[in-house]
Amino acid sequence: MTLSETRLIDKPTIKKDFPFLDGTIFLDSAATSQMPVPVCESMSEHYRLGASNVHRGVYDWSVRATDKFECTRRKVAAFIGAQDERECIFTGGTTDALNLLAQTWGETNITAHDTVVVTSMEHHSNLLPWTQLAERKGANLIWWEVTDEGELDLDQLPEILAAQPKLVALTWVSNVLGTINPVEKLIPQLKEHGATVVLDGAQAVPHMPCDVTKLGADFLAFSAHKMLGPTGIGVLWGRAELLEEMPPCRFGGSMILSVRRDRVRWAEIPHKFEGGTPNISGVHGLGAAIDYLNSIGMDKVRKHEVELVTYAMEQLGQLDGLKVFGPQDPARRSGVISFEFRGIHPHDLATIIGREGVCARAGHHCCQPLMKNLGRQGTTRASFYIYNTREDVDVLVGALKKAGEVFKDVIL
Ligand SMILES: Cc1ncc(COP(=O)(O)O)c(C=O)c1O
Repeated sequence: MTLSETRLIDKPTIKKDFPFLDGTIFLDSAATSQMPVPVCESMSEHYRLGASNVHRGVYDWSVRATDKFECTRRKVAAFIGAQDERECIFTGGTTDALNLLAQTWGETNITAHDTVVVTSMEHHSNLLPWTQLAERKGANLIWWEVTDEGELDLDQLPEILAAQPKLVALTWVSNVLGTINPVEKLIPQLKEHGATVVLDGAQAVPHMPCDVTKLGADFLAFSAHKMLGPTGIGVLWGRAELLEEMPPCRFGGSMILSVRRDRVRWAEIPHKFEGGTPNISGVHGLGAAIDYLNSIGMDKVRKHEVELVTYAMEQLGQLDGLKVFGPQDPARRSGVISFEFRGIHPHDLATIIGREGVCARAGHHCCQPLMKNLGRQGTTRASFYIYNTREDVDVLVGALKKAGEVFKDVIL
């Protein structure tokens, strides 16, 4: 395979759309990705051409902002395979979406007689809303464990199905291990046993084709800032019949049909969950990010990541004393690679490779229960996206070699 075959975006386009990447090897897109210039422009346009609120004014600016806002809702629905754009609620991000869900669906549906399942590879965002809810309600909590290979323990599935959980909170892709969970196989079985399935799509939706209708999930949450969009905006998708039954939990403007002293009628979905002035320019940015990803094609985005991860696993595998956590087969993992190198503390390692221009993440990645399973306080994590190339992997490997040199005389 030649270098150019693993370049998803050509050099002139990177230079034009991501000029700030010049000289920086950005390997932290799992934390937050970079925004291409067209996304920045789409956001700034909202202010440059005359800002206005949405769903309120009748003058041109407001109509323009509202049209663009609702057009993005349709784009989001198409991007994730939702049948109805009303199923897409704009939130502040994945964390916000999952907390909203716990406050509405969770509060009304979970009782002391129910079982809630969480996996030990969940990000705290898809863990704490549910463990806190279970504790508040006195519900039974089951932890779905992870094998030594970094995959969900499927031997535990019979136990989980037998418990007939009311809720299963499951990440589609692990932000630490890169593991892609077999959600297509698991969701039908979980649903057959009566579970409502909440998918954390924060690391999946930006990186691979998504079709919630085919998946048959009940809820999906994701963030714009991990898919070329801005921070502070994300989506909660839910099946319409579930959303219609859920009470609103944020009260204020824009989420009602009528308010009388003695009676309130809520707006239809999705608006009853979107009280207050939304993040309008953020929504515009999300729409532009989806356009950008669609112009590449999500199949190509995924293919590019498999190629890059294959190459990265090969190259990292040649470094003595380097251990990659999670599945070793690139086809079973996303563009997230967590590793340990010769016992060097992840923060030291990230600092040293940072001096070589490599931006990687170090820490527990908001997955402390998983870190406990791994027997580590943290890992170093490199994560790839559309703008990364094999050359970036080579620079990472070179930087790691330098870090190895720095620590060669230190007994770790
Ligand atoms: C798997 C996963 N879930 C949830 C989140 C939280 O996303 P946000 O901080 O955008 O709410 C992250 C962020 O890293 C994540 O990786």
